[in-house]
Amino acid sequence: MKTPVSAPAELIVALDVPTRTDALQALRQLPASVRFVKVGLELFVAEGPRVLKDVAASNRHCFLDLKFHDIPRTVANAVRTAAQHHVFMLTVHAHGGATMLRAAAEAAAECGTAAPRIVAVTTLTSLNQDDLAQIGVTRPIAAHTLALGQLAIASGCDGLVCSPLEVAFFRRDLGVAPLIVTPGVRPAGAARGDQKRVATPAEAVRAGSSFLVVGRPILDAPDPAAAAESVLQDMRSAQIS
Ligand code: C5P
Repeated sequence: MKTPVSAPAELIVALDVPTRTDALQALRQLPASVRFVKVGLELFVAEGPRVLKDVAASNRHCFLDLKFHDIPRTVANAVRTAAQHHVFMLTVHAHGGATMLRAAAEAAAECGTAAPRIVAVTTLTSLNQDDLAQIGVTRPIAAHTLALGQLAIASGCDGLVCSPLEVAFFRRDLGVAPLIVTPGVRPAGAARGDQKRVATPAEAVRAGSSFLVVGRPILDAPDPAAAAESVLQDMRSAQIS
């Protein structure tokens, strides 16, 4: 059965750790209230699909964030393979273009009840206007990001990944249906690291984010369980206010 996605925003903890041992430790440390975790490039390249089984064994849903960006056939086959590992959501890159995005969405749809949701990365939250200028993108970052998100949804994707600062903008344009996944979330006072376009958990929820992805502020905290609970509390405060 497809993982139900409820209206209240959900927290996804990014398991950005180098080894399976670290991942298992993080899964043990996180409270049961954390129902979703993300496996990204660092861990997947090191350990492969067995970490996806570890996530399932911890009774959590897995978001596979490998940002597929390749020719349509390769991406479609990667989506079909990922579906066999019971990931509930995965990322593709909107820069891959309409044909690739549609191929990913169609490959997922063929997987029936095991179909992963496909969310397209728009503009990485580590990039700002100057970074875009360096790669030849001269339109304003908001317009660029909106165009990529519109392309993803028009091509059949379930949603998109963007900065929390762009969510309200997308909700106005695309309505309530698309899933909006936001990294770049930082509790008040937390280090930004390499993230440039950030907001607090409560701000991301209020803007209309469906899933908040939080990594370092939780896993690098002296007490990851307490840090996760604190993020969840901040999210809840926005849902009832
Ligand atoms: O540690 P931090 O909270 O910055 O982690 C954010 C996570 O979200 C990282 O795993 C990063 O790869 C991912 N991500 C991102 N920006 C995107 C898409 C994914 O930061 N546009």
